[in-house]
Amino acid sequence: MSETPLPPAESELYDLIANDLFEHGYSIVTEAFAHALTQDLYRRVARLDEHNDLQLAGVGRETDFQINTSIRSDETRWLSDTHHVDAAYLAQMADFRLAMNRRLFLGLFDYEAHYAHYAPGAFYKRHFDAFKDGDSRRVLSTVLYLNQNWQAEDGGQLVIYHKDSDQSISTVIPEMGTLVVFLSEDYPHEVLACNRDRYSVTGWFRIQDPMQAPAI
Ligand code: OGA
Ligand code: MN
Repeated sequence: MSETPLPPAESELYDLIANDLFEHGYSIVTEAFAHALTQDLYRRVARLDEHNDLQLAGVGRETDFQINTSIRSDETRWLSDTHHVDAAYLAQMADFRLAMNRRLFLGLFDYEAHYAHYAPGAFYKRHFDAFKDGDSRRVLSTVLYLNQNWQAEDGGQLVIYHKDSDQSISTVIPEMGTLVVFLSEDYPHEVLACNRDRYSVTGWFRIQDPMQAPAI
């Protein structure tokens, strides 16, 4: 496979994140991507919200799927390659995936992502994005925040916890351009109730489904 070299700034970002993941299992970076891309994503999700094109999110996968607003009360919509802004972000994250695979040999195979909107009062209680024996195939979680001038009193912080305790490791302000990446099975986390509209793109890099893999 031939791969064109990445611009230096981007490869430095990838080095930093890969290093954080290797050492700690999570990474938090501000102004991760090009300003224009982040702004486009913000405008896109704000418009989806304005047109009521987001849907109450569920918990669980497929047959376990249910809406449970005592666990989470955000609204989401999957990104699709058919919209140019979604496609631009998915292309960015395809680069990201290759960059992590090259540095950490994670074998990340694909990426799924949704926009999320937390209306004032919305939250997402402590949870894991994946379980060791689960079938989600999620390895790495990513959250990119799309909120200009977020203040402490706006609430809505992401709190990342230690796996087996109530002790928090980090509290993240969901400010425009901040990207959080963490190992999906290792970090329980929660979104505190927010006091203003809170927008983000959340996504998951996954390994290949063994049932779908071609026989060798
Ligand atoms: C999620 C999630 C975190 C955030 O969607 O699974 O944990 O800060 N989101 O929005
Ligand atoms: Mn989560």
